[in-house]
Amino acid sequence: MNLLKKFFNSSNKSRLIRTAVKIACKEVASNLSAKPNLPSGKTAIPLTVKSQVFPLPVVICGALVDDRPNFNTLGNFGLIDPTRPNPVIYVSSFKKHYTNIGIRRNSYFSVNIPSRNIMARTDYLGVVSGHTTDKSKVMTVFFGREKSAPCLKECPLNYVCKVIHHIEVKDKDLFIGEVVESFVSSEFLTEKGIDIERIEPLLFTADGYYRVPSEPVGKAFRIFKEYSERGQKPGQTTEGTVSH
Ligand SMILES: Cc1cc2nc3c(=O)[nH]c(=O)nc-3n(C[C@H](O)[C@H](O)[C@H](O)COP(=O)(O)O)c2cc1C
Repeated sequence: MNLLKKFFNSSNKSRLIRTAVKIACKEVASNLSAKPNLPSGKTAIPLTVKSQVFPLPVVICGALVDDRPNFNTLGNFGLIDPTRPNPVIYVSSFKKHYTNIGIRRNSYFSVNIPSRNIMARTDYLGVVSGHTTDKSKVMTVFFGREKSAPCLKECPLNYVCKVIHHIEVKDKDLFIGEVVESFVSSEFLTEKGIDIERIEPLLFTADGYYRVPSEPVGKAFRIFKEYSERGQKPGQTTEGTVSH
């Protein structure tokens, strides 16, 4: 009680506040300098985009804004649920982007997978904004059944998505969409399915370059079996050189 009285006594109040601020600052400083107990060979690095190791897939997102198709290039795209018949994917796009206006209004968007041979136009769609420029004629627009999700003919693969969740994450709109229609350019369709290698989809890497996926190095879900059948033990040989 006495302490409370002291606190509300104006002459002491500023001293108490100063002390509280000093203690808080010390705590923050000690938290910042606290070193994690890392195993040898590990170094903590600042969380910058340069520390990114995985390439981002490059996609072109399409939406209809005021009856005009608009497209933007996105690296922040991914698969949430591959289950057929309606896989679920997401795109994350700055709220300020023009494309977002159409997605928010219509609850539909398209995801178009560009290939190496349309790299320059793909880049352009990611540099110029629909707020100032009409990007509807950069490539050839077509529609499936859903008329508010414009797709691009030049992109080998196109997915039409219906928004099932819209989440605001900081300054981004995260649109989670169920794929309701998908299209492929027939030249990339083989008896075995879609020829990924011929499509040469673009990847965006942390050094600021577009790359295409390199050679296959191992068959997923099978390589471990081959590795163990050879009697190889982890650490004895190089796992990364198992044949495929
Ligand atoms: C390779 C590349 C990747 C990009 N990835 C993203 C992304 O993941 N999210 C995003 O909000 N903007 C991304 N952008 C930037 C937008 O595409 C760009 O700001 C575009 O001009 C927005 O267009 P809009 O205003 O017409 O929608 C990327 C641009 C490029 C070139």
